[in-house]
Amino acid sequence: EMMVELLGLRKLGDDLAQTLGVSRVIVVAGDSDTEDWVKHSFGKACVNELKSIVKAGDVLAVMGGTTLAAVARMMSRDDVFAGTTFVPARGGLGEKVEIQASTISAECARRTGAAYRLLHVPEHLSAEAHESLVLEPSVRDILQLITSAAVVMHGIGDATHMAQRRGSLDIFTNELSRKQAIAEAFGYFFNAEGQIVHKQRTIGLQLDELQGKHVISIAGGQSKAAAILAYMKHRPSDVLITDEAAAKAILDRV
Ligand code: F6P
Repeated sequence: EMMVELLGLRKLGDDLAQTLGVSRVIVVAGDSDTEDWVKHSFGKACVNELKSIVKAGDVLAVMGGTTLAAVARMMSRDDVFAGTTFVPARGGLGEKVEIQASTISAECARRTGAAYRLLHVPEHLSAEAHESLVLEPSVRDILQLITSAAVVMHGIGDATHMAQRRGSLDIFTNELSRKQAIAEAFGYFFNAEGQIVHKQRTIGLQLDELQGKHVISIAGGQSKAAAILAYMKHRPSDVLITDEAAAKAILDRV
């Protein structure tokens, strides 16, 4: 029975990879909307993936969110992490400290024995403050490290949910719905066609800098089906780690 289930999940992953144009999709059992252990399965899948691709000296960039926080908790010491450095992919996006990219990157480092660097940037920077901050030598150093990342791990969220979780003003939430934003990733908002409709101003990795990096997207739950589909239209990742509920809901939509 276990074997049949595994084959079923593999088939779902292959179908989804084809549909989304993603090289590889790993589907785990369950629905992360309702079952907490599913996010830990994402973590196991992600750690396996890292073990097969990470090289000594690599910089590994992580984004924030509850999914990546759960993934971090599944990391453990392994030789592949010797000489690697975890960094947050981008600066503060209005999340609680427990699920900020910096916190998650430090947690990954603590569990794996890797090094880490933090990126301290205030949120909601004015254009002027933003411009001068990126010229600060200490900020420039860490930004260079982030840009050099070989691997990027990130979550994908539902646009409205993300705006609300970050405590955005009604006026902004209304603007997002007027622009038909569906998905959020890396501080960017996307419509159903995968076009960028809004970008939050923060420093760190920009979407157009993902080229040449091994990008692992981790997102699941039936409620995220439309968001995952929209983001993958923008830019199919190298690997998508998702769950059965999201995978089925996405295939139902296309
Ligand atoms: O705010 C950081 C972030 O990675 C977003 O880019 C993404 O939409 C969200 O978190 C995912 O959060 P969660 O894993 O809690 O659904």
